[in-house]
Amino acid sequence: MTDMVERSVVPRQAAKCLLAGGLVALPTETVYGLGALADDQRAVARVYAVKGRPADHPLIVHVGSADGLASWGSEIRDYALALAHNWPAPLTLVVRRSERAQDWITGGQDTVAIRVPDHPLFLETLAALDELEPSRAPHGIAAPSANRFGAVSPTTADHVEDLADFLDSDDLILDGGPCGIGIESTIVDCTGEIPRILRAGAFTAEDVERITGIPCAATEKDHVTDVPAVRAPGMLESHYAPETRVQLVAADDIEALAAGFAAGTVGLIADASVKTPMGAVRLAAPQDADAYARELYAAFREADALGLALVLAVAPIGAGIADGVRDRLTRAAH
Ligand code: TXA
Ligand code: MG
Repeated sequence: MTDMVERSVVPRQAAKCLLAGGLVALPTETVYGLGALADDQRAVARVYAVKGRPADHPLIVHVGSADGLASWGSEIRDYALALAHNWPAPLTLVVRRSERAQDWITGGQDTVAIRVPDHPLFLETLAALDELEPSRAPHGIAAPSANRFGAVSPTTADHVEDLADFLDSDDLILDGGPCGIGIESTIVDCTGEIPRILRAGAFTAEDVERITGIPCAATEKDHVTDVPAVRAPGMLESHYAPETRVQLVAADDIEALAAGFAAGTVGLIADASVKTPMGAVRLAAPQDADAYARELYAAFREADALGLALVLAVAPIGAGIADGVRDRLTRAAH
């Protein structure tokens, strides 16, 4: 058995850990992040090592308010500012970087991803950093999702324990309970004339269009392929997948598909209205698309823990967060 990482519910302790060069897994409203002080090159390098993440995959800088945008970004467009006024939100803005946003954050790109997460413990950690070390306020915490590269994002502090073997005794997990949203933030590229959604999430395209008054650039194809033109290098098709094979199915086909497997080896993720066929393991039965997002990654993890042969998933229908859920399911099934 591996050692557990120290847990805390005290933001000030998390801030001190970060200032000492440690890593802190932090709760956000979307998923848990693995944070390092964004100014600390050595600590950020450890984030990549702990995740097993390639160095050219840039990190999101988490800040405490829209003031952080001017510190870490530059040449901010009006529509980006309008979006930033909705922070804290599950919304990440990609803008031109400032001098402060170094290559170790941006993976060498001339842009930087910034967001204000909507979780009190995370925001209190940022406030404590500014108080403990005011000369570098507003502080930024660079944090990818707190999972090994390519694996499923953590939505509870327990899920973060997957990283325990790679973390040090000085590192910390700040336990903020289960994440309220459950899938990663919406990423909007704000470097062009018009906004472009690079990753779908709980902050929807309709939200972006309503707030900016500008229709979003089409993203359908190019954000799901691994070609040089891609703007979010972490968005490989194979991401967000459990070990267990995932297959997207229509509700009507479940019975026949499950019949081909031994009892207890097929999992089902589907809306509560869909019945579980005999012998299948119900991994999640969400009432609506919000619940689907919240329960999805824990269901993937359970499939792996049970060693299932296959997960059948019936995707949620409709717009809004259902878009983000379908995006994750499609990648997982790739
Ligand atoms: O909800 C979230 O966004 C969570 C929580 C912890 O905030 N974070 C998260 O981080 O999902 P990560 O590193 O797992 O995913 C960040 C994505 C990656 O796909 C990365 O390529 C993209 O953001 N990204 C970061 N900087 C970028 C940039 N300058 N241009 C385009 N994409 C960028
Ligand atoms: Mg991730």
